[in-house]
Order: sequence, then C-alpha cells, then structure tokens
Amino acid sequence: MSEFDTILLDRRGRVGVVTLNRPKALNALDSQLMREVVAAVEELDADPGIGAILLTGSDRAFAAGADIKEMQPKTFAEVHAEDLFSQWDRFSSARTPIVAAVAGYALGGGCELAMLCDFIIAADTAKFGQPEITLGVIPGIGGSQRLTRAVGKAKAMDMCLTGRTMDVNEAERAGLVSRIVPAAALLDEALKVATTIAEMSLPIAMMAKEAVNRSFETTLAEGVKFERRVFHSTFATADQKEGMAAFVEKRSPHFTNS
Ligand code: CAA
Repeated sequence: MSEFDTILLDRRGRVGVVTLNRPKALNALDSQLMREVVAAVEELDADPGIGAILLTGSDRAFAAGADIKEMQPKTFAEVHAEDLFSQWDRFSSARTPIVAAVAGYALGGGCELAMLCDFIIAADTAKFGQPEITLGVIPGIGGSQRLTRAVGKAKAMDMCLTGRTMDVNEAERAGLVSRIVPAAALLDEALKVATTIAEMSLPIAMMAKEAVNRSFETTLAEGVKFERRVFHSTFATADQKEGMAAFVEKRSPHFTNS
C-alpha cells in the first residue's frame, strides 16, 4: 500500500476511504494532494477487494478549492504546458463507485472534486460554491460543466457569475446532493451507504455507473440502446443467476463478483 502525506487511505472492509488531510489550508488542492488523491483512487480502483470508494475531508472543509497560493505565480505558458488539472480525467475514469461525504466548505475545486464523485452525501454544515470569478479565473476542474448538468443553467450561471455559496438545503433541492445528514453522523452514514454498494456485485455496480454516466455523453435513444445491451450482458454473469435465484428462494444473495 502506498504512503501519502496529504491524504489518509484506509480500508474498511470492502470500502476504500480516502480522507483529504491538509487541515492548515482547509484541504486546498495543491499539486501533491491532487497527485495523491488520483494515485489512491487508481490504487483502490485496481483492487478487486474494494467495491466502493468513499472520499471525504474534515468537519470544517471538504476542500476550499485549488491551492490559490500555488497557482498565483503561474503563467499562461506554464499552466498550458502542464495542462493543469488534466490529471482529474484519470479520477473520472475510475470504474469503482465513488461516494463523496462533504462537510463544511466545498468551494471551487472542492465543489468540483465532490461532483467528480458519483454522488454526494452532505452534512448539514456543507456549503457549495464556484467562487473562481472572485479570483479573476473560471472553474478549471469541470465546474462549469458538471454544476450545470447537476443544478441547471439558472443556478449554475448564478453561482459561477456571482461566486455565491449555496447552503446544503438549496444544494439538495437543486439536485447537487443526494442526502443530507447531521454533521456528527456524516461518516457513519456515508460508510453505511458505501458498504451497501460494496456488497453488491462489483461488475454489475460498474455497469450501472457506466450506464448512468453515459446519459451525460449521448442522446436519449443511443443511451437507452446502450443500457439495453449492457442489461443483456448482465445475464452472462454468475451474479445475475445468484441474485435472481436468491429472490426466488427468499434468501439474501451471495455475490461473487463474477
Ligand atoms: N488555497 C490556498 N489556501 C487556502 C485556500 C485555497 N483555496 N482556502 C483556504 N486557504 C488557507 C488560508 O489561506 C488560510 O491559511 P493561512 O492561515 O496560512 O492564512 C487557511 O487556509 C484558513 O483559511 P481562512 O483563514 O481563510 O479561513 P476562514 O474560515 O476565514 O475562511 C474560506 C474560509 C471562506 C473557505 C476562505 O478560506 C476562502 O475563501 N478560501 C478560498 C476559496 C476559493 O476561492 N476557492 C476557489 C479556489 S480557485 C479554484 O478552485 C480553481 C478551480 O476551479 C480548480
């Protein structure tokens, strides 16, 4: 298992828990933290013993954005040459389901990182925003695209143009957040949800994730065709035989991820 400085990596049964851990900077995403999060997720994604990933931060901040102090001196030529933030494409290529557990600030890159996960469970303290415009930049880790898909044009424009913050109730009403839980219960609840997912058949969970994600990339007719073909292919798995047999025999299924 790899060693990390800016994150904690823990295995809780079949759930890989990645905790952002740069408390002095409210988990701001500097290059080291970004490298470590992507490496940890790739490591967990490649591990057949892991059925779900939980990504979280601290009580005060999930993450307060990309590291402004690190970005401040960079020139256009530098950010263009290094293709700053392109490493997140590797995070979104993970096939294992990823749940975000968000408390406190999820701003800028922090909001974008939460949206890179498959869904967001939020504490009642969570605050979401894309304040990049107040710094003279725009979102750079997909915020203008994923926020718009999550909450629609009106709220996405409002947030990206004014830089205002959304509280958790507004975020839930708008569809950014799947569930709100009391802050003190966030980790336990999110771990329960991730464990539920991890107990499903992993290949089938991966297919469900891929099918939902396809809806963002294609037309309705093509997406429905894609879903139907993947649905048909689930019948090639032992887990489909087991899942349906267990229902008929009135018992719990025992999936073997095959
Ligand atoms: N980058 C670097 N350092 C940050 C940071 C960030 N994004 N956010 C907070 N910090 C640091 C602060 O500089 C401070 O460090 P010092 O003690 O050394 O001064 C420490 O974290 C604690 O922060 P504050 O003292 O500011 O705490 P607060 O409670 O008064 O305010 C806050 C909290 C409202 C989140 C405020 O820190 C803040 O506005 N942070 C910046 C939010 C932001 O603009 N994020 C977008 C970044 S750009 C981006 O993300 C681009 C992209 O799309 C990828």
